[in-house]
Amino acid sequence: MSILVAANFDADEWAAWWPALQAALPGEHLIRGRSEAPAEAIDVALVANPPLGALQGLPRLALIQSLWAGVDKLLADATVPAEVPLARMVDPAMNDAMAETALWAVLGLHRGTFAYAAQQRDRVWRQHPQRRADEIHVAVLGLGQMGRTAAQRLARNGYRVTGWSTRAMAVVEGITTAAGDAALAEVLASAHIVVNLLPLTPATRGIFGASTFAAMPAGASLVNLARGAHVVDTDLLAALDSGHLQHAVLDVFHSEPLPVEHPFWSHPNITVLPHVAAQTDPRSAAVIAARNVQALRQGQPLADRVDRRRGY
Ligand code: NAP
Ligand code: GLV
Repeated sequence: MSILVAANFDADEWAAWWPALQAALPGEHLIRGRSEAPAEAIDVALVANPPLGALQGLPRLALIQSLWAGVDKLLADATVPAEVPLARMVDPAMNDAMAETALWAVLGLHRGTFAYAAQQRDRVWRQHPQRRADEIHVAVLGLGQMGRTAAQRLARNGYRVTGWSTRAMAVVEGITTAAGDAALAEVLASAHIVVNLLPLTPATRGIFGASTFAAMPAGASLVNLARGAHVVDTDLLAALDSGHLQHAVLDVFHSEPLPVEHPFWSHPNITVLPHVAAQTDPRSAAVIAARNVQALRQGQPLADRVDRRRGY
């Protein structure tokens, strides 16, 4: 059988992924293009933003393994066969990277380093009051692989952290938890900083709109590390321009790369990152993907299967 790697990698990315996958999957026949094996011989697809239609017409496809953590694009692609088990990337190295980004953003907002960077550009010497970490309330929306790791890292750094999910969680060390739509307003009302680590689903699309921003206290900030479509861009700009929100750190956008004419680029209270909060690392991810291929071959349960009904 053959394993199709269906990805929109550039040359540098292929140069990192191909040897990592070959090393993790010895004895497997890896192919990059459909023409390299008959359709009936392909039983696994390893995917990263696969071209439209890349997985159609594969009668023996038994596993779609995403090399990305978020699967919203795959679930939105009607050409991805809905009956084939879909697993997503869950990599502790990525969770750690995400926690580092969340900590960097929260520290920057707490200690004013984004504001000081702007002051330096204008040669302004102005000191702002310094607060203690335990005076800063951080809400982490989404308490999954990444949200939980980020929330715990923030708590270990002294922040008061509340995490929000759909299902009530057993105690998560160091953080307060809340669950369900009814709890959201209260979680937001006490947050100086909101970190978004939700998956993009019909329930979470556009969650950061005018009413959510209004539920956050004056002077609060947003850190969006999940998906651009969680945010209603015009509502965010309005909340920043009115002074209700102080700052937004954004790693993800409706359209990526962020178009050069987009107002986020030049907004004085927005920090833009080019979708780098937690990049998949081929060295660890190839090994994790290979474990699921092995599980399939041995008739064992697949890890990290996506619940298509929930959308994550
Ligand atoms: P995950 O393990 O699936 O966790 C999802 C969390 O969100 C769970 O706690 C879930 O709660 C909660 N949730 C889902 N829908 C909800 C809703 N309607 N209301 C409240 N809570 C809800 O996902 P993950 O691995 O942590 O990844 C999260 C997202 O990060 C990914 O989907 C992706 O979009 C993004 N991401 C971004 C980057 C980047 O570089 N910027 C990198 C990787 C991933 P329950 O479990 O209780 O249902
Ligand atoms: C990146 O955004 C991912 O979902 O892995």
